[in-house]
Amino acid sequence: MKNFKRTLITSALPYANGPVHIGHLAGVYVPADIYARYLRLKGEEVAFIGGSDEHGVPITLKAKKEGITPQDVVDKYHGMIKTSFEKFGISFDVYSRTSAKIHHETASEIFKTLYDKGAFIEQTSEQFYDEEANQFLADRYITGTCPKCNFEKAYGDQCESCGSTLNATDLIDPKSVLSGNKPIMKQTKHWFLPLDQYEPWLREWILESHKEWKPNVYGQCKSWIDGGLNPRAVTRDLDWGIPVPIPGEEGKVLYVWFDAPIGYISATKEWTSDWTKWWKDPETRLVHFIGKDNIVFHCIIFPAVLKAEGSYILPDNVPANEFLNLEGDKISTSRNWAVWLHEYLEDFPGKEDVLKYTLTANAPETKDNDFTWKDFQTRNNSELVAIFGNFVNRTLVLTDKYYNGEVPETGILTDYDRQTLSEITSLKTEVEKSIETYHFREALKNAMDMARLGNKYLADMEPWKVVKSNPERVKTIMNTALQITANLTIVFEPFLPFTTEKLRGFMNLNKLDWKELGRTDLIAAGHKINTPELLFEKIEDEAIQAQVDKLLATKRVNQLEQSKINPAKSDIEYEDFAKLDIRIGTIIAAEKVAKTKKLLKLTIDTGIDKRTVVSGIAEYFEPDKIIGQQVSILVNLAPKILKGIESQGMILMAENIDGSLVFVTPATTLKEGSEVR
Ligand code: MF3
Ligand code: ZN
Repeated sequence: MKNFKRTLITSALPYANGPVHIGHLAGVYVPADIYARYLRLKGEEVAFIGGSDEHGVPITLKAKKEGITPQDVVDKYHGMIKTSFEKFGISFDVYSRTSAKIHHETASEIFKTLYDKGAFIEQTSEQFYDEEANQFLADRYITGTCPKCNFEKAYGDQCESCGSTLNATDLIDPKSVLSGNKPIMKQTKHWFLPLDQYEPWLREWILESHKEWKPNVYGQCKSWIDGGLNPRAVTRDLDWGIPVPIPGEEGKVLYVWFDAPIGYISATKEWTSDWTKWWKDPETRLVHFIGKDNIVFHCIIFPAVLKAEGSYILPDNVPANEFLNLEGDKISTSRNWAVWLHEYLEDFPGKEDVLKYTLTANAPETKDNDFTWKDFQTRNNSELVAIFGNFVNRTLVLTDKYYNGEVPETGILTDYDRQTLSEITSLKTEVEKSIETYHFREALKNAMDMARLGNKYLADMEPWKVVKSNPERVKTIMNTALQITANLTIVFEPFLPFTTEKLRGFMNLNKLDWKELGRTDLIAAGHKINTPELLFEKIEDEAIQAQVDKLLATKRVNQLEQSKINPAKSDIEYEDFAKLDIRIGTIIAAEKVAKTKKLLKLTIDTGIDKRTVVSGIAEYFEPDKIIGQQVSILVNLAPKILKGIESQGMILMAENIDGSLVFVTPATTLKEGSEVR
């Protein structure tokens, strides 16, 4: 592999139209952070870049919906996102935003350079236009009937009912979101990056020279290139974004996907005046951390822009992740199906590392993965608490107890001691290999193996048993356990930085460099440790159930919103209605109808008589719980034999959205036989 002088790490800029959730963290920010922390610990020169993506149509739509400006929207979410990242300890060197002045300048400059070089082609095409609002309409600004499933509220780019990708012109009966009017077609001019011209170069650069990219990334690139690349528009008719920097082209802005990746460059400029060494020196390794929906933009389009510009470096790797699902369903901001970071921070204060651990251990590196609260609990209780925490706690507590917190001298090592200590070195090599090839879940497993090693060592050596018979031997055992513990403060530093800080506090140790990892004399005899505390605590079932309940409530709200209200039936005359004789009655007996699931045999006091009614409500009511219940009963329905029982009338029920049934009962108790009309 090529040797580089420094590494520039970028992480996808999240859209500032909502808070960030565990999917963002798992897919992009946690792996990028592990990578950045690891390289820094190795003493390498690193820049870790982040920021908010503040342009694009969804932000303008959100602003419209809430009656505020797009700037208000991005100010709110940029702040929230930035705070969440800080609290989770994502160690950005700079976290910027694309509404910043420096970004507008940088993106405009690059556009202008490409324009002046003739790197764009101009094309005029017909686009939907709202004559009342005097505005061209982005796809999301048009709704209409889906040609595939007839859903009436499909968007110009997608139908959320059947999931099809659409063109705005496919919609039946298109309407403008702005005025509700039918839009007209109007000519408009845009600039396009002729990606087709870059195909031979992309083939060579990716398909030949970057065969080491992850299979999911390489595969997606190959299928884009093989599928034939077309010119891509780099401008839009919109009033939110970076104005096209060409005189006389007012009212057009740069396409959000043109300006956003340039945000990495602007943020670097904001961070340091010496930014060119990061972006223009071939000895800088550029690595983009992203999710799989961003692959084409980071591997094909942005590199083509940089290539056209001519003076920038290109990514050495783009370790994109697949998606994280939540409890079996796709994470969705609009359906509120997510674990929001700001809510997690409130619900589990001080447990930032537990979430990071779970997300890394279960990272969607090669395929989509599922986050479940149960798994989160198990990872905490059976791994962090039972292995890592248990080992550390035993070591520190015994040191405190036997030696008053002073690290004992080591004596002669046994073969087993030596072998245990040498495994630390081999695990170090494993972790390095895994991180450097972007296999973070494997790397975390390797690190955890080091804690496992310690845990097993203590369990095998049983110092608590040996201490009476052979106190000298126990000094060696405890010294060995303490050396392993000190090594854990290093190996976990890239993954669980809050935990290692805590552990260093317990051990009264300074932060150690990666190169010290594997040493067996990290902590000297006579060194005094602090009074031990717990490194991790158990997460109880109640806390997990509360989270599961929260998601169930979300599901119910979504069902309610999606539930279809049947259209009204055709009109009837009053005489038709007047034929129904509905009375208030009281249930005086109830029993299940044998061999059926749904039927109850009820005896109703109707005021007129006491009669039998067979009713299909057994799934929702226990017979003995409904005695005395007042109901509405249609008494002049012709009798009918059901399962051998004559049913004389029908109980009226109202149906809930989930299909469950409730009685239609008078608001106050009435005399049996009262009429409903
Ligand atoms: N905002 C985009 C998303 O969330 C990512 C932008 S990455 C950048 O999918 F490179 F364009 F900044
Ligand atoms: Zn559809």
